[in-house]
Amino acid sequence: MYFKQFLDERLGCASYFIASRQSHEAAIVDPSIDLDQYDSLLTDRGFTLRYVVDTHVHADHISGARRLAGRHGATLCLHESAKVLYPFHGLRDGEELGLGPLRLRTVHTPGHRGELISLLVINPPRSPEPSMVLTGDSLLVGDVGRPDFGGGDAGDQYDSVTRLLRLPDWVAVFPGHFEGPCGQGMCGRPNTTIGFERLYNPLLHLEKDPFVSTLTGSVAARPLNITAIEATNRGAADLPWAMLTTPQLVDEIEADGIPPAAVLIDVREPEEFAEGHIAASTSLPQAELATRLDAIPNDLPVVTICRSGARSLRSAQFLKQMGYERVMSLRGGVTAWEDAGRPLERDRDGGPPRTIVETEWMHAGGVTQ
Ligand SMILES: [Fe+2]
Repeated sequence: MYFKQFLDERLGCASYFIASRQSHEAAIVDPSIDLDQYDSLLTDRGFTLRYVVDTHVHADHISGARRLAGRHGATLCLHESAKVLYPFHGLRDGEELGLGPLRLRTVHTPGHRGELISLLVINPPRSPEPSMVLTGDSLLVGDVGRPDFGGGDAGDQYDSVTRLLRLPDWVAVFPGHFEGPCGQGMCGRPNTTIGFERLYNPLLHLEKDPFVSTLTGSVAARPLNITAIEATNRGAADLPWAMLTTPQLVDEIEADGIPPAAVLIDVREPEEFAEGHIAASTSLPQAELATRLDAIPNDLPVVTICRSGARSLRSAQFLKQMGYERVMSLRGGVTAWEDAGRPLERDRDGGPPRTIVETEWMHAGGVTQ
């Protein structure tokens, strides 16, 4: 067999290329939009692409799966329960995809999202047992995938990782992410083993109830433009520009204060906004920025605000990308604002309901559905 892991350092995502050296057939799992890297490998090695698999509908980055499958005439596969608006082959639990003698066996592992699958890699000439598992955003290295990216469920995640832990210790685990926002406590390694995670993944020592409350107990920021990206990957919208492509230099965009006559956009989650925000700021979570751009005027300076200045910086960079010229990120966020003795308002309307598939923008007919 041939196996290669591609790491996207900018997004913290991993994609996978698996092929048979006998039949020269290949599958690519969770491809990014940088298709050239896969095309070169297919050409250089003389492989034919048979299958493109998305382990789930991604919400934090635009998937390259549809374009890649279309370009090569390969079969596009997701779990049969995936609610997408384009044709695909729906994989059932236990179903196998063949690449010469190799087998990719589907294991339905919902939790991060309802349709998420893992893929066992079995190479019968070597062993009847799986040697690897591609886990998408179910089991991560030192963590598990978050359930709050749309359609997820923490209890299902517990059941899914428990199922994966029944695999033998030696099985190598290759996750969909090695860093980034999909897990809060990933260690940074790009792979692990079932045995190591069983021993040292702190979440896997918890019973179901504490596991669920750990995953759901605190407000965690959803990634930038998650609403637009998820809708694009479902085929419900076409907003690939929602991915931040060329971040501006930090010192061009950070500000220590707020100019007069500016629009103040607080990009934290609504629950955080309700806890305390700068007077006259408006709640517009970074998750929904791309789908609610029409709410942000372009004729005044725009100041983005978050807790510490990290989310607001990325949001300001994205607004720059979208043509907002006078945009800045408040350095240090509301934390620095409060530390400087300035007041925060509390208990105002926390903004729109925190759901990913039902936003004002979608109800307003912004999707072609
Ligand atoms: Fe994901």
